[in-house]
Formats: sequence, C-alpha cells, structure tokens
Amino acid sequence: MKLLVVGSGGREHAIIKKLKQNKGVETIYALPGNGGIAKDAVCVDISATDIEKIVSFAVENKIDYAVVAPDDPLVLGCVDALEEKGIPCFGPRKAAAIIEGSKVFSKNLMKKYGIPTAEYKVFDNSEDALKYIETAPIPTVIKADGLALGKGVIIAQTREEAKNAVISIMNDKQFGKSGDKIVVEEFLEGPEVSVLSFTDGNAVVPMISSMDHKRAGDNDTGLNTGGMGTVAPNPYYTKSVAEECMQRIFLPTVKAMKAEGRTFKGCLYFGLMITENGPKVIEYNCRFGDPETQVVLPLLESDLLTVMQAVTNETLADTEVKFSDKSAACVIMASKGYPVKYEKGYEITIPEDIAADVFVAGAKLSDGKLLTNGGRVLGVTSVADNLKSALELSYKAVEKIHFDNAFYRRDIGARALKALEA
Ligand code: AMP
Ligand code: GLY
Repeated sequence: MKLLVVGSGGREHAIIKKLKQNKGVETIYALPGNGGIAKDAVCVDISATDIEKIVSFAVENKIDYAVVAPDDPLVLGCVDALEEKGIPCFGPRKAAAIIEGSKVFSKNLMKKYGIPTAEYKVFDNSEDALKYIETAPIPTVIKADGLALGKGVIIAQTREEAKNAVISIMNDKQFGKSGDKIVVEEFLEGPEVSVLSFTDGNAVVPMISSMDHKRAGDNDTGLNTGGMGTVAPNPYYTKSVAEECMQRIFLPTVKAMKAEGRTFKGCLYFGLMITENGPKVIEYNCRFGDPETQVVLPLLESDLLTVMQAVTNETLADTEVKFSDKSAACVIMASKGYPVKYEKGYEITIPEDIAADVFVAGAKLSDGKLLTNGGRVLGVTSVADNLKSALELSYKAVEKIHFDNAFYRRDIGARALKALEA
C-alpha cells in the first residue's frame, strides 16, 4: 500500500513510525514532512495547507490511504477534497472539523447537549465584551473563536489583562478573522487530562490517557507553548473518571455531532479538566494532539493502519484497539527562546545507539546534516514498566543528544509521579 501523511511535526513522525509497522505498507509520503521524518518516509515539498496540490499528488501517485494530521488542512476540507477523488482518508471532514475550528460552535454544542464545560458568553463586538468584563468573575478566560496556532486562549488574572486581550483579539485582529468572535469563559481549576479517541461516528474508543506540560519553564512557569513534554497514562484519569467521561462526555459528543449532521470520523481529542464538580471539557481538537501522540502511539499494541481503516469503514466497534499497560514519557527538546524568538540552523547529533524513540519536529536536512529548523525540535520518548523508569530513560537519552541552544524542561512527569505516590 502507498500511504500519504499530511503534516510535518513530531506527531506526524510518531504516526509514520507506527504506520510503518504494518507489513502491507510499501511507501509513505509525508507532505511536507521534515529532515528527520525523511528517514522514515518520502518527504515531498507540498505545504500541509495546499489542498489542491495535496489532492493532485495523491491522485498522480495512486495513494491508497491518506492521513490528514494537522488542524488547518482538516478545517479547510482536505479530507472532503481527497474523498471526492476516491481516496480513503483518516480525519474528519470540514463539517466535523469545526469542533476545533470554532470555539463558539463547540461551546454551543456542549450547551445544547448538556456536556459539562465551563460557563461562557459569546461576543461578536468588543464594546459588549468590554462591558461584560467590568463585572465578570476574575480570573477569566478569553478565547478567540477560530484557529490561532495554539495561542488564542488568554487566562486573564486581572480585569485589565482581560480588556487588553479583548482589544488585541477583536480590534487589533491579532489572530485575523479568528478573532471576529470570542468566548469569555469561567476559569476552572483542577488537573488536566488529554484523552485522544478513535471514533467512526458511532463507536468511540478512548486511547490511553496522557498529560501535557504546556508552559515553557519548570514548575509550570513561563509562556504557554505547543507542549514541552507528555506522559502516559495520566494518573488523574482513574477508572471512575474514565467511566464518567465516557457516559457524560465522549458518547454524548459523538452522538451530538451525528445529530447535527456533522458525523465525526477520525481522532477526536478531549482536553479535560478534572474539577471538584467532575470532569469538564476545556477544549476539543479534531486531530491527534502533539506531543500527546508521541507517548500515546508508542503504547498502542494494535496495528495503527488497521484501526484507522476501521474508523474510515465505520467498523470500529468490531476492531480491537489494545494499549500496553506500560508507561511512556516524552521530553521535548526545543530551541532556546521558544515560543517567542529563537535561532535556527544548528547541527543536531543523535547517537545511533540511543535507547529512546526520537520524533523529529523542527529540523531540516542540509548536505546530509540534520539542522534545527523550528521551536520544538525533537521529542524523546521512552517506554518502560513504570513512569519513573520511562522518565529516567528519556532524560538519559536527552543528555546524549546535542544541538546548540537546546533547552528542555527538567520536570516533565514530576506532577504525575507525585500523584502516583500520593
Ligand atoms: P488551549 O490553547 O485551548 O489548549 O488552552 C490552553 C490552556 O488554557 C489549557 O490547556 C488550560 O490549561 C487553559 N484553559 C483553557 N480554558 C480554561 C478554563 N476555562 N479555565 C482554566 N484554564 C483554562
Ligand atoms: N498538546 C495540545 C494540542 O495538541 O493541542
């Protein structure tokens, strides 16, 4: 089989490595992929948002199955366009990807179907939003409606901060049209859990739970990033929490999307907060999370391509999806200065005998050398019998990998370990 994977990050590298384990896979094309992915797939220089070129490439190269991994092409309708040409895909159609593409849509969906989430108000002009903020409970959370490269959520600790956020999103158009509307939301507290799930529109199969570390600095300080590391499973996701999530969140969401005529097929990501009043949805993503995927897929024991095809063919209920009972830890190595300003072009050296999986995100090949080319450069993942050992293995591997200006958090998994000991 010839496969195509749209995207270029560590998540896509993890997906490709897992897909390659299927004996029937002859070639995987990555569009555009990156310098590290080039070891495992044929990288083709087509942007992940150039739907027309992606479709032509898929048709010309007689692609048997396509995986569209990032949010932008999904929201733009990449799956619809590929399916129109008869190419089976993994990923939601445009009508369903709106669950991530519009926060106003997802909040209204949850309200309509009684799915637990933070209280909220929607605004389509800054005057009303600013007026509301005068009396809103503080802290408050401001969210741009549309996609904003993961930067569209502002936790405002003061009224002043909240007002500034409204002005920069709605008046100064910091995120362009994504800020035409905003959601102002109740601030929730509690540990966060990421649950990626496979769904074919009817059945929903949660993958192993995980915990992201979003802030740039140790002890959750510094700016929000795309994610500086992950561990799986997440100790806060107990059996009873899982059961409650299935009954009150996962199944109702999948049913709601179907009832709205927006059947969701693909990976539906539930960003959850375990509050005093039970689990609540913080956000939905219409795709695999990153770096969550870099700990979740290494623990998947079933064949990924088989599961993905079952999603496409709507036979997920009859397909086994098995996860290992081990633990995984991923430490992201980033470029100093990320997520704001950082230098690129430093040579990366990864010893051949490294005892961890290295998923490459921001790197390019130049004269046979792998050079840094992004904020998040690598994800270093280990799997072991317990979280403590997985973390030790990952950090040992991180120390053996070199590039100038590298930085990483030293406390990935610390909170999870504490929770396990408690
Ligand atoms: P997102 O960019 O949607 O992933 O959100 C970034 C982070 O903002 C989440 O992971 C949470 O830590 C935080 N967050 C979002 N909504 C809320 C909320 N209502 N209350 C507290 N924290 C939130
Ligand atoms: N790690 C969070 C996300 O993928 O959005």
